[in-house]
Amino acid sequence: MLSRRHFLAVAGGGATLTHPISKLLEDGRTPVRDKPLRGDYWGTQFYDEKELQQLTEVHSNRQPFRWYGPGTQPPQKVATFEKEWASRMQTRFALAVTSGTSALQTALAALQIGPGDEVILPAWTWHSCFNSIVLAGALPVFAEIDESFNIDPADIEGKITPQTKVIMAVHLQGNPCDMDRIMSIANKHQLKVLEDCAQSVGASYKGRPLGSIGHVGIFSLQLNKTITAGEGGALVTNDPILFERAARFHDLGALRPGHEKVLSQSKLDGFAAPNFRLNEFSGGVLLAQARKLDTIVEAVRNHARRVHEGIRDLSGLHLRQLPDPEGELGSAVFLGFSSKEQCERFMALMKKENVPAQRPAGSVILPIVPYIEKKITVHPAWPSFNTERGKSIRYGASCCPRTIDILARFAGVSLNPKFTRQDTDDIVAAIRKVYPTIS
Ligand SMILES: Cc1ncc(COP(=O)(O)O)c(C=O)c1O
Repeated sequence: MLSRRHFLAVAGGGATLTHPISKLLEDGRTPVRDKPLRGDYWGTQFYDEKELQQLTEVHSNRQPFRWYGPGTQPPQKVATFEKEWASRMQTRFALAVTSGTSALQTALAALQIGPGDEVILPAWTWHSCFNSIVLAGALPVFAEIDESFNIDPADIEGKITPQTKVIMAVHLQGNPCDMDRIMSIANKHQLKVLEDCAQSVGASYKGRPLGSIGHVGIFSLQLNKTITAGEGGALVTNDPILFERAARFHDLGALRPGHEKVLSQSKLDGFAAPNFRLNEFSGGVLLAQARKLDTIVEAVRNHARRVHEGIRDLSGLHLRQLPDPEGELGSAVFLGFSSKEQCERFMALMKKENVPAQRPAGSVILPIVPYIEKKITVHPAWPSFNTERGKSIRYGASCCPRTIDILARFAGVSLNPKFTRQDTDDIVAAIRKVYPTIS
């Protein structure tokens, strides 16, 4: 029996194994790892005395509300987070909100999207994208994804109608969209671009932070994201009108002195709006986490780079399309196969190696979700599906066959910023061992 180290030396050295791996394992050969490789939530692994200090300060100052409280100094946590977030994302303005979903709702409100308007979004993304459009009273129109798992720019133009106002460019599972093509389509048709960076916080495209390229960008800071306060969200923009409308929308239509100062001049009246304000405890934790963002991103990108380098000479290697490999977050390394069966076989063999590979995750094929396919809303007279166009639009599998096909043929290994060198060596070894046996 080969020792684990000996095996790694062989597999990592690029030797081609001649027997199917399942046979080797049945023959008593050891898997690449003794125990399954497991990740953990990213941001919370980096919690230390910095987050604790922020919480303690809010607690001892008794200032949990962002706009005022007891004491002579005004609360500063959320305001400082906004200032530093705008600087990190290279935008003029940043607004903290309660979640990525409320950030999407705020962004659509900032863009004045409402009944009669259409928003194009990818068929594979999170519920929040579809729901926020419906909650604005507008109509979601799905476009297919391509092998980047992001919206396929080639499918966008065919979905544009005179009612289309916004393209939702969702950067999924760490991978930037092809922003050059999306911005060029948007400019040609005078559409706005909302970048949803919920799953790619800290990634960039051609040197620019995601969120700073379109007209407005949003982030989720929920537990599964790059950094977290459990829940939380943010919005960025360079446009003062969009920022004022967003700031007002997140706070009952009011513009507080803190934001008025950031804007220097108010240009809008108040309007009816919800409350999506972030509290100072969350603001403090997010401030501490945001200051660690680059460390987290660098760590996970290094792992992704090592895995890519370790497998790049594999013959016939088919990877997820990366519009900007340098800017990608590196949350996972995905491999493509010619059929669903091959993909399933790859996942079964990787599991035996204790290096599990999964299908693209964190999103759903929205058009086939029952409440979406049936166009169910909270009120029967909800405007989204009561216009002529809303009544005639059809969701379901027939509106996204390519999306369904692509997602069935890709699987990958998720990476984690706290992985060790040995972990990434194991990933490389397992892929090198299994991939060549799939045909
Ligand atoms: C693409 C995308 N957009 C928006 C959201 C919503 O974020 P939140 O959970 O913070 O509301 C998510 C959450 O996972 C997401 O994946």
